[in-house]
Amino acid sequence: MSLFRRPSADPLWRDEFSVFSDDERYVTRRQFAKFLVLASLGMFVGNLWILVRSWFTRQPVYPAAAIARADEIPVGGVKLFLYPTPKDQCILVRTGADEYAAYSQKCTHLSCAVFYSAQHGRLECPCHNGAFSVRDGSVLQGPPPRPLPRVVLERRGNELVALGLKIQPEAQHG
Ligand code: FES
Repeated sequence: MSLFRRPSADPLWRDEFSVFSDDERYVTRRQFAKFLVLASLGMFVGNLWILVRSWFTRQPVYPAAAIARADEIPVGGVKLFLYPTPKDQCILVRTGADEYAAYSQKCTHLSCAVFYSAQHGRLECPCHNGAFSVRDGSVLQGPPPRPLPRVVLERRGNELVALGLKIQPEAQHG
């Protein structure tokens, strides 16, 4: 080992620095694969986070709203009301002395307003002869693909209170 350093144009620190500028831009296949795996993992976790967040924010929170007095309508009578927003028309039917059913009035086919037919004891849509059961909102006839969304009701003393909307997924032709 020589005590004297050979003469060089480069400064001493460049010889002793462990990373050489020629190697800086060189990426091995393993490094590149590692980068791809980490980037994919990051994207996967990000998408999973978006999915989980949208799942939780999708659950709507419905207000509780008094919609009618229990003795306000006779058996077989109806009352229209707006729920859960002032744009959402709903229909309440008194089906028995102490039985009430309420649904969105918007037909699940092409959104015409359904009405209660006391003669047939069902909800009917005038546009394409769709019909729904007043008992559970299921499709009885016609083109509607899904049951009517049902308004969840609770009786509080003499008041009927809407607590939410229950979307019913499958058509049940009776
Ligand atoms: S819109 Fe109601 S049956 Fe078509």
